Amino acid sequence: MKRLKTMPVIGVRPQIVKAAPLIKLLNENRNVHLQLVHTGQHYDIEMSRVFFKDFNLPAPKTNLGVGSGTHAQQTATMMIRIEKAILHYRPDVVIVFGDANTALAGALAAVKLRVPTAHVESGLRSGNLAMPEEVNRTVVDHCSDILFAPTRLAVRNLLNEGIDKDSIFHVGDTMVDTLVQWRRAIGASGILDRLGLRPEEYTVLTTHRAENVDDRSKLKAILSAVSRTRTLTVFPMHPRTRKNLINFNLWSKMKRSNIILPIDPLDYIDMLSLVKSSRLLLTDSGGMQKEAFLLRVPCLTLREETEWQETIATGANRLVGTDPSKILKEATRVLANKDARRKLAKLKSPYGSGHASRRIVSTLLRVCR
Ligand code: UD1
Repeated sequence: MKRLKTMPVIGVRPQIVKAAPLIKLLNENRNVHLQLVHTGQHYDIEMSRVFFKDFNLPAPKTNLGVGSGTHAQQTATMMIRIEKAILHYRPDVVIVFGDANTALAGALAAVKLRVPTAHVESGLRSGNLAMPEEVNRTVVDHCSDILFAPTRLAVRNLLNEGIDKDSIFHVGDTMVDTLVQWRRAIGASGILDRLGLRPEEYTVLTTHRAENVDDRSKLKAILSAVSRTRTLTVFPMHPRTRKNLINFNLWSKMKRSNIILPIDPLDYIDMLSLVKSSRLLLTDSGGMQKEAFLLRVPCLTLREETEWQETIATGANRLVGTDPSKILKEATRVLANKDARRKLAKLKSPYGSGHASRRIVSTLLRVCR
């Protein structure tokens, strides 16, 4: 029988995490041919290559080398290069992940060539179209043919927008698959020793959203609130955030506080291990909110809304925005509650049990051949 020609398109760090277990299954399946495309949206070694090494993934067949730019420049350049790759390879299906510009460019290039397109992590909505990711995920859902939804709520969101139920597949969340596969390695990471940390005696902070870190006053507000918690806060830093801290003249003040410990971006295993043993995660990342939930670590989200609404409904996550008094009040409340983590341990997960990628492969083989 003819092999199914699949073209997953990835480009940013969290897409590698979401796609890793699926790429592995596609690569191993005799009925599938894998043509992995990397757009190069993320290009630093610690933002991309290190994840391929960690997850033992095959190197992408094609790296489009797009790099940074304005949204239009970046998305348009990716579209032009993805179109060429599609025309060259002629896949039976293009697979895109999440909500970054890479996903938008992949879906638009494929749909205009009338190549079937599958969207992994479909149906998420935060309701805030001021976020580029909300625009991306909505457009991608409405032009894709096969929608892989991680949760029931995601399915409902798609149905509410009039999407045909026959194109929606509730498969669970592929980031659970990744976590299940690497749980043992996460437990064995030596990151706490390397940083001189003791379990449950520190907070983790991540912030990289353009709306937070490109705005000096918001970035300053977040850092000042964190410093006032008087709890050691490990801060693995996205390159965008590092550049802005330096440009905004906030770097040395942050270092002087002796509360915030800035470090380079971590690989997946060390990052998850760091969060797993922390007392609290403060973040504006989408994926990290969910990973904190899966690890049953309390999370405060530095945004006014979230697409991961189930984490809020269960009480594991709270939206604190960037108002320093709110961040400080909520962080103090969580840090004072010694039972906060144990209470979360009993929560049921809406994200599935680690079989999403397997379901995606069998659905693709059924629907696309
Ligand atoms: C992108 C995604 C975001 C995702 C994030 C994960 C969009 C619109 N945003 O945001 O949804 O949560 O990836 O990290 O697609 N840079 C480097 N080295 C790199 C990559 C970026 O130095 O390897 C710097 C550059 O200054 C660049 C800036 O970071 O201009 C922003 O990078 P970009 O890819 O545009 O967006 P992210 O903020 O990473």
